[in-house]
Amino acid sequence: MNQITSKIAGTGSALPKTILTNKELETLVDTSDAWIQERTGIKERRIAKNQENTSDLAIAAAQKALKNANLSANDIDFIIVATFTPDSIMPNTACLVQAALHADHAVCFDLNAACSGFLFALQTAHAYICSGLARHILIIGSENISKTLNWNDRKTCILFGDGAGAVVLSISDSSKHALLDFETGSDGTRSNVLTLSGFQKSFLQMDGQEVFKFAVRKVPEIILTLTQRNHLCPEEIDWYFLHQANARILTSVAKRLSLPLDKFPSNLSSYGNTSAASIPILLDEYHNSHKLLPGQKIILSGFGGGLTWGSCLISW
Ligand code: ACO
Repeated sequence: MNQITSKIAGTGSALPKTILTNKELETLVDTSDAWIQERTGIKERRIAKNQENTSDLAIAAAQKALKNANLSANDIDFIIVATFTPDSIMPNTACLVQAALHADHAVCFDLNAACSGFLFALQTAHAYICSGLARHILIIGSENISKTLNWNDRKTCILFGDGAGAVVLSISDSSKHALLDFETGSDGTRSNVLTLSGFQKSFLQMDGQEVFKFAVRKVPEIILTLTQRNHLCPEEIDWYFLHQANARILTSVAKRLSLPLDKFPSNLSSYGNTSAASIPILLDEYHNSHKLLPGQKIILSGFGGGLTWGSCLISW
């Protein structure tokens, strides 16, 4: 009898319709399309309407992921929403998703680890499935960051966007199609680097250079830990789906690992940094366009406020 493990059975994503371009930002703050593109790789981002909530985006992404996995809401045992921008402190956003989907048997909770939230939710769901507590879990990264931004602060308002990505994690008995290993961590002594003291009451604040330095050091480190522990070399990994924070972070990580940049998918130019949603949105785009082939080795890697970081090795 093979050991129980978990696999990604379906993906989905949802983005607000409204596009905010760099050119439009030039009219709000002292910036330029050229500066933003050169320093971040971002051309435009999606912005949720006033009445469009994190749960609305999460529900739309979740419906697509369920359909893609050929499952019904009734099959779902847990719903975990990774977000630092929930609709409200209480009820949690996962319960709002449950009600909309009629996922009546699901246990629902939110998880906040900023831009590492999706990775932490994935690891939590993997542990539930491996322990026999669940067969199918809906994991959603969903953010409404635009409502937390100071639109007079050019150092932050140009970077972020809104959106949601979802995966269904299902039980698997084959390590050929499975989540193979995780490497996660946190450093609360550096909590001041990225802060939002109260959603809808304060603004997101960030020491951009500190986050940048942390990311380009920590991400290669955890990728090497994961690959070495699994007797793989970085070249044997087909795709690296990194949190989409800045194109220069992707370039720098690829360079430090001596890997070609085309192993690092990116949609930063269209969506900016969507925090916990960025990895599942990108994964859905690649899954939908049939770029992910069975048995390919994939590494997901998130990093962000907390500080927090996490990577997952997958055999697709
Ligand atoms: N337009 C024009 N000029 C700007 C802008 C702007 N939008 N923002 C800053 N500048 C200016 C600065 O004022 C500074 O001018 P000065 O030299 O006269 O003082 C100059 O540009 C350089 O500023 P830096 O902060 O040194 O710019 P840097 O190259 O570091 O880029 C950035 C800043 C893009 C924020 C970068 O540091 C970065 O991407 N960091 C990582 C951020 C990140 O990943 N955050 C998300 C974490 S995810 C999460 O957990 C939510």
